[in-house]
Amino acid sequence: MSNKTVIVTGAARGLGAVVARRFHAAGYNVALADIAIEAAQLIARELSEDGSTACAIKLDVASKADFAAARDALIGRWGSIDALVNNAGASKVVPVMEITAEQFDQVIGINLRSVLFGCQVFGQYFAERGMGRIVNIASLAGQNGGSATGAHYAAAKGGAITLTKVFARDLAAHGVTVNAISPGPLDLPIVHESVPADKLATVIAGIPVGKLGSAAYIADVAVMLASADAYFANGACWDVNGGLYMR
Ligand SMILES: NC(=O)c1ccc[n+]([C@@H]2O[C@H](COP(=O)([O-])OP(=O)(O)OC[C@H]3O[C@@H](n4cnc5c(N)ncnc54)[C@H](O)[C@@H]3O)[C@@H](O)[C@H]2O)c1
Repeated sequence: MSNKTVIVTGAARGLGAVVARRFHAAGYNVALADIAIEAAQLIARELSEDGSTACAIKLDVASKADFAAARDALIGRWGSIDALVNNAGASKVVPVMEITAEQFDQVIGINLRSVLFGCQVFGQYFAERGMGRIVNIASLAGQNGGSATGAHYAAAKGGAITLTKVFARDLAAHGVTVNAISPGPLDLPIVHESVPADKLATVIAGIPVGKLGSAAYIADVAVMLASADAYFANGACWDVNGGLYMR
């Protein structure tokens, strides 16, 4: 396992940082890719002081060129790459009737172009190697339209689930699987920062299991989907939402 490599986008904080840590604990070399390079560097150094098993990479997920540069840098550093977790995402809540073209494009860029470009660049590389794993972090909002996240975000996440299926079908014959994980509200900083405490209590009361989700568990699902044994899990959307949405 020690020579496997994963790149995690949006790994400077929140879920991406937890995912990066879990992959590292599972024996992977980990590239923490983020626009917040200093925060990513801090975690990378904490995981591997000499940089032998973790590094930070400056990458804007809305840029295909950044994905290509990251791929080349990691091949140069560790020889090959085995898995990509498209995790970076962001949204600002705006009422649907008030979303401007700029806001729409920006949210689609971070949450959907990111998945397109990540899957294009790494999907092609993995297909050429005859093996690879891609995990796209979607959201419950992409399945039920969302509540507190914004229509542009929900639409982008729905698109991410659809792109997961398209790339999964295209790449399957080349030994590459592509899956989405669709979390409900997680016990993460962004949730506590963006939802006032009294509203959060109402949100939690509305979750059938009565708790926010665990980021560590989402990370473990990503590690599981990246394993060689996971070859038969492909094109799926893994719902982890406390029972908020059942299908
Ligand atoms: N937090 C939740 O409850 C929850 C629920 C469902 C889905 N998700 C999804 O999980 C993922 C991570 O969410 P989070 O809660 O950790 O968010 P977060 O805002 O805490 O962290 C997002 C990270 O992405 C980085 N980022 C933002 N724009 C970027 C860009 N253009 N290029 C590269 N990196 C960029 C940020 O710097 C940050 O480090 C997102 O895709 C989000 O939609 C989160």
